[in-house]
Parts: sequence; C-alpha cells; structure tokens
Amino acid sequence: MKIDIITIFPKIFDSYFSESLIRKAVEKGIVGINIHDLRKWTENKRRTVDDKPFGGGFGMVMKIEPIFKAVKDLKRKESKVILFTPRGKKYDQKTATKFSKLDHLIMICGRYEGVDERVAKKIADIELSIGDYVLMGGEIPAMVVAESVLRLVPGVLGKQKMIKERTTKSKGFIECAQYTRPEVFEMGKEKWMVPKVLLSGDHKKIEEWRKKHCKIIAG
Ligand code: ADE
Repeated sequence: MKIDIITIFPKIFDSYFSESLIRKAVEKGIVGINIHDLRKWTENKRRTVDDKPFGGGFGMVMKIEPIFKAVKDLKRKESKVILFTPRGKKYDQKTATKFSKLDHLIMICGRYEGVDERVAKKIADIELSIGDYVLMGGEIPAMVVAESVLRLVPGVLGKQKMIKERTTKSKGFIECAQYTRPEVFEMGKEKWMVPKVLLSGDHKKIEEWRKKHCKIIAG
C-alpha cells in the first residue's frame, strides 16, 4: 500500500506520520507514505496555487494546473485519486476496508474556498467527506483516511488487534467498553467502580455483558 498526499501544507503531516505504529510500518516497508508540496508543480515565481473565482464571490479557488500535473506525475494504472471536500461521499469503515485492499491512494487536500470544479469532475475518482462540518482544508481528512486504512493493512497493527477484528469480520468491527486497574477509582467522596461482572471470572456472564456494551461498526 502506498499513499501520496498532495497539499500546500506538507509540514502539517511531519509529526503525525513520524510517530506511532505508522512510522514503524513505513520503516518495515509495509506501507509507503509520501507528502508532496503542491507548489512543486507551479511554474511562476510566486508559486501560485490559487486564483479568484470566475463569476465573483468570496475568497480564492485552487487552480487546476498544478493539481493536474501533480496527479499526472504520481498516478499509475492502479491508483485511486481522492479529493477531500465537505460535499463528498461520507467516509465510513466500509470504505476504509475497501481502500485497504488497494495498492495506491492519491489524496488531494483542498484549501481556501474550494477547488476548481474540473478537479472533481475530471481528475479525482472520488470526492470524500469525513463528516457534515466544514474544515479549513483536506489535511485532517487525509490523516483520518490514511490512519483508518493503514491500520487495516496486514502487518501494521500488532497480532492482538488483528485477531480481535478478524473474529467479527462477517459483520464488521466490534468496539467494546473496556476497563483496567484500579478496580476502584476514588474521586473525592465518590468511588468509580469497574463492573463486578468483569471481575467475576464467569466467562458466560462476561460475554453477555460484552454483548450489551459493544457496538458493531459495519466494515
Ligand atoms: N474539507 C473541508 N471540510 C471537509 C470535510 N468535512 N471532509 C472532507 N474534506 C473537507
């Protein structure tokens, strides 16, 4: 799995991808992540990536030319090109699972008031939204999609996690309420307890409790 991210703020990704299990997966060669500065594909001195909207209106619009050149350089036959926009298809676990089986994702992070519509119409394979709210750009959506996809790529997570997810594969992914020590957490006069059933050793009862306190996320 390889991910190429096109952005005008490449530094935003530095610490995010240089920490955690994702860095380890990159070091092991399981996944490849490349962050590209869109301005690399500009030609004028000011490295312009945006311009005023035709027909008037507020703000600036990202230009098609640098994005077109960037995608042309990075795209292969098997690539899926994603454009992040708040009006895109709502991203979910099912899409994450589908993406995790692909070889190459190219993510275009929009900024400003929008991106020239021809990018959505002619260059991107899919427009994605991570939720019904408006962010200032596609950088955080790119991190959300990258993390949710990469954790499904075999070898990225430890064995335990993979086993947990495989057991519910037919329905989706299971997320449960969990507790660890201490059994009693004292908060002033209050005592916040771990549910007794989890300490009982009665596996049947524990299973029943878990069924009530877990959520299956369709995947
Ligand atoms: N860009 C701005 N807001 C966004 C959102 N909610 N999802 C994806 N891209 C965005």
